[in-house]
Amino acid sequence: MIEVKNLTKTYGNARGINDVTFSVNKGEILGFLGPNGAGKTTTMRILTCFMPATSGQATVAGYDVFEDSLNVRKRIGYLPETVPLYTDMLVPVYLRFVAGLKAVPRKEIKKRVDEVMEQVGLTHMAHKFIGELSKGYRQRVGLAQALINDPEVLILDEPTIGLDPKQIIEIRSLIKGLGGKRTIILSSHILPEVSMVCERVIIIDDGRIKAMDTPENLMKQLNMESRLTARISGPAADILAGLKKLDGIKTVDHLGGDSSERGAQKYVIECREGFTPSPQIARIAVQNKWDVYELTPMRMSLEDIFIKIVTHEETKQ
Ligand SMILES: Nc1ncnc2c1ncn2[C@@H]1O[C@H](COP(=O)(O)OP(=O)(O)OP(=O)(O)O)[C@@H](O)[C@H]1O
Ligand SMILES: [Mg+2]
Repeated sequence: MIEVKNLTKTYGNARGINDVTFSVNKGEILGFLGPNGAGKTTTMRILTCFMPATSGQATVAGYDVFEDSLNVRKRIGYLPETVPLYTDMLVPVYLRFVAGLKAVPRKEIKKRVDEVMEQVGLTHMAHKFIGELSKGYRQRVGLAQALINDPEVLILDEPTIGLDPKQIIEIRSLIKGLGGKRTIILSSHILPEVSMVCERVIIIDDGRIKAMDTPENLMKQLNMESRLTARISGPAADILAGLKKLDGIKTVDHLGGDSSERGAQKYVIECREGFTPSPQIARIAVQNKWDVYELTPMRMSLEDIFIKIVTHEETKQ
């Protein structure tokens, strides 16, 4: 449904995106994951015909975004980073206005506005001016305007940014429900978010694609070596030497003391793939009369994942 080939965009001397290639199948929900300035918005703006690329190719439903932008726009609903909303319009009035712009047949406009408001949970805000709405509800108006012409393709730029946790859950399940029939690309810089909603994830950093896989495979690949944090009291040198000798442990770092428990020191333990060394650690602690205050698996943060992917890329070259 969406084909992107060697897409590059430069802003003067600055590089927006560099040689980006990917495709999205019909009905698929693809996540675009990357830190600030990675190139997510740039890619989405090109796909939605808001600006041309410097080089490369992109098609949506077989239509070229540069040469056939009218046909592309007809098929796309776009939730931009900041939605240009008219604050002095009532919600349904604004949506009817957008429906007109997007060439929804006149007779169908009212019905379509009602449907979309219901779909995104805005029906009870029908009497409100957009300027009166909270950020979360404005975001819903943004989604509603993207859906108004019942597009085959949805491009959603950070759809849950600025929402409270309850609204995040609601919007996520709403987006998930929109998949299947529609092809969706959504961007985020939160890994759990894309894992929950998307079937496939592209990690983009510094304008380049660094990884592309299912969330499960990505997590598996990146969690091959797991880490534990431990707080143990006892002679640090003995603990370090003792832990390092255990099977499946790669490295142990001593991070120093902790004022909350008497003498408890913090350690970060890196384990080899497939090893769960907690029982061995507990055993060796008992043997040596060390007290274990904490033994917690560390979850990888997005930053860790990026660092890992980037360093992996560099060592390959
Ligand atoms: N209009 C512009 N003029 C100059 N440089 C730009 C412009 N828009 C984006 N850039 C640059 O292109 C790069 C990618 O920006 P982009 O907005 O696509 O990132 P992003 O992944 O959407 O980031 P964020 O998470 O902050 O929204 C950045 O280095 C940015 O500074
Ligand atoms: Mg952006």
